[in-house]
Amino acid sequence: MDLGLTGKVALITGGSKGIGLQTAINLAKEGVKVAICARNEENLNAAAERIKAETGEEVLTIVADVRNEADCQKAVNEAAEKYGQFDILVNNAGTSQAKPFDSVDTDLWRDDLDLKLFGAINCSKAAIPHMRKAGGGAIVNLTAVKGKTPTASSLPTSVSRAAGMALTKAMSKDLGADNIRVNTVCIGLIRSDQIEKKWKNVNPEMSWDEFSRKPEHGIPLGRIGDTVEAANVITFLVSDAASYLTGTSVNIDGGSSAVL
Ligand SMILES: NC(=O)c1ccc[n+]([C@@H]2O[C@H](COP(=O)([O-])OP(=O)(O)OC[C@H]3O[C@@H](n4cnc5c(N)ncnc54)[C@H](OP(=O)(O)O)[C@@H]3O)[C@@H](O)[C@H]2O)c1
Repeated sequence: MDLGLTGKVALITGGSKGIGLQTAINLAKEGVKVAICARNEENLNAAAERIKAETGEEVLTIVADVRNEADCQKAVNEAAEKYGQFDILVNNAGTSQAKPFDSVDTDLWRDDLDLKLFGAINCSKAAIPHMRKAGGGAIVNLTAVKGKTPTASSLPTSVSRAAGMALTKAMSKDLGADNIRVNTVCIGLIRSDQIEKKWKNVNPEMSWDEFSRKPEHGIPLGRIGDTVEAANVITFLVSDAASYLTGTSVNIDGGSSAVL
C-alpha cells in the first residue's frame, strides 16, 4: 500500500524518545522530511543519530518546550523554513502524571494542562497556516485511554487527555473544509522510559517479559505494547491511506479499555 508520504514534512513533538522517536523513524523510512523537538538537547542529538543509523536520513532537531507558545511557533516555523512546506504534526510530548485527587495541587493541574492540552493547541495554531498553504495536512494528538475511562488515582492526566479528545473532535469539524485531518490515538500501556521506570520500581529482578505479561495489567492481548505498534498506527493516520478519517480516536491498548 502506498502511504503517499514521500516528500511530506512533519514535526513530532517529544520526538527524542519512546513513541515519538519511533514515529520519527517510521516517517523517515517513508520518505518524510522529519523535524523533532523536545527540551533536552543531548537526547535530541542521540535520537537524530539513531534515526540516521536506522534510516540513513538526517532530521532537524529543535530544542523547544511545548508549554511555551513561542517555542511551538519556532519549532513549526523552523521545520517549514528548512523544508519549504509543512504537512504533518504529531502532538506527542507528554509525561505520566497519575495521582489521587487529594495529591494534585493547583500547580500540577496547570502544568499538566499546559503540557498536554496547550502543547497541542500551541503547535496546532502554529502549524495550521502552513497546512492551509500546502492545501491540507494531518494532525495526530496523542492521548490516553484513561481520558475515556478515568480510573481512581488517574489525575490530572485523565482530565488533560479527555480535553485532548474534545480538542481533536472540535478541530476536525472546524478544519475539514481546509482538508486538514485531526485524529487522536489513545494509548494504554506502551513500553517506554515511563513504563520501564514502573517495571524497575515493581521488581528490578523481574524480566521484561514477566512484567509485561502480568495479569494485573488487564490487557486481553496479554502483554504491554511496543513503540513500533503505536508508531505504525500514527503513521497510518497521517498518511494518504487514512484520507477519509478525521475526528476519530484509535485505542492502542491491546484491548484493555472498556470502551470503543
Ligand atoms: N507509554 C505509555 O504507556 C503511555 C500511556 C499513556 C499516554 N502516553 C502518552 O504518549 C506520549 C508518548 O509517550 P512515551 O511513553 O513515548 O513518552 P516518553 O518516552 O516519556 O517521551 C516523552 C517525550 O516527550 C518530551 N517532552 C516531555 N515534556 C516536554 C515538553 N514540555 N516540551 C517538549 N517535549 C517534552 C520528552 O523529551 P524532554 O523530556 O527532553 O522534553 C520525550 O521526548 C506522551 O504524551 C505520553 O503521555 C504514553
